[in-house]
Amino acid sequence: MATAAAARALTKAFPRSASSATSSVRLAARPSRDTAAKHFFRQSSRRHYSSGPEPAKKSSSGAILGGAAAAALLAGGFYYYSQGELHLKSGSAGQSAGLLNPTAQDYQKVYDAVAKALWEKDDYDDGSYGPVLLRLAWHASGTYDAATGTGGSNGATMRFAPESDHGANAGLKAARDFLEPIKQQFPWISYSDLWILAGVCAVQEMQGPTIPFRPGRQDRDVAFCTPDGRLPDATKDQNHIRAIFGRMGFNDQEMVALSGAHALGRCHVDRSGFDGPWTFSPTVLTNDYYRLLLDEKWSWRKWNGPKQYEDVKTHSLMMLPTDMALIKDATFKKYVEKYAKDNDAFFKDFSAAVTKLFELGVPFQSKAEDRITFKPTVSQ
Ligand code: HEM
Repeated sequence: MATAAAARALTKAFPRSASSATSSVRLAARPSRDTAAKHFFRQSSRRHYSSGPEPAKKSSSGAILGGAAAAALLAGGFYYYSQGELHLKSGSAGQSAGLLNPTAQDYQKVYDAVAKALWEKDDYDDGSYGPVLLRLAWHASGTYDAATGTGGSNGATMRFAPESDHGANAGLKAARDFLEPIKQQFPWISYSDLWILAGVCAVQEMQGPTIPFRPGRQDRDVAFCTPDGRLPDATKDQNHIRAIFGRMGFNDQEMVALSGAHALGRCHVDRSGFDGPWTFSPTVLTNDYYRLLLDEKWSWRKWNGPKQYEDVKTHSLMMLPTDMALIKDATFKKYVEKYAKDNDAFFKDFSAAVTKLFELGVPFQSKAEDRITFKPTVSQ
């Protein structure tokens, strides 16, 4: 049943032709704003909040002290060793003292706080900050350069100009500001872990697959900002997609799986210059991006803006030139067809590719098998 919030999301998503779009509309089944908190707590007590996740195993810190201390120095903080465990003291570039040995349960508390804020602050865009939180996590990670080992989500350097002013990052202040009260509530978590955790939370709360989370990112100062131009340019073609994602170490299949994130959210004229959503359910992750790419007819939109496609039937959906490149290129198209037919395959590959993306270039002290699986507050 369409809720008030869902109706508002529809109106916002499809101002030009909402009624003609209804044939294939799949709405985000979100609670109205006044019931959001109730929904959250109902879900939490009924489903997932009574028990925490598996506790993370502690690393044997003796062996890692040297590397950790070096990383802490870079972060402007320091470690000390006591009672057989490694402890982190405040880092001037972002970390604060408070909780010295956060457990999986502590990170789940941060997840719950982000999820609660997502459900409560539902008057943004199409009814959720989820898409812009995911975009923040992706842009923090997508600066990675495998050849030099620079960039990536370790550091949260987008807090600083010039990186915050890079054209590709326009609009991401909304996501950073959304997370600031959570950072105040949990001062022990680094911004860089928080941004990635919030991206994980956004995917899971928008009914996407589980994304395992590995903590351990250290905030870094302005000196670690990456140069402009590392993130993709939407006006380009498949060669550019391969150059950008190849630089990070992704293969063709992973590039197509990652692109399925464009089932979520929208383009904003005042940010990228492009306009509109890719799918009819911009706050629920599905494989609709691939299905629409293949099933709809697309033509250039006639407007006074950058070159983008619109669907011929409703004129309410959009595709970027880089989106369309995925069906122009025969190898990419093979994977688009696979994911259009099989949502489970998409979810599995999306989860694996996003996990890899979020961990690029991070000098983790913990092991991959110690990743935390957060309990979502919605059915997946
Ligand atoms: C060729 C690769 C990509 C290009 C050229 C691209 C480009 C864009 C552009 C131009 C926007 C609109 C920004 C705005 O106006 O607010 C956007 C939004 C978005 N992108 Fe991408 N993107 C790419 C890959 C990805 C990947 C890999 C992910 C995540 C895994 C992602 C997630 C998102 C999300 C969730 C939004 C919606 C944000 C919102 O609603 O505020 N994108 N992207």
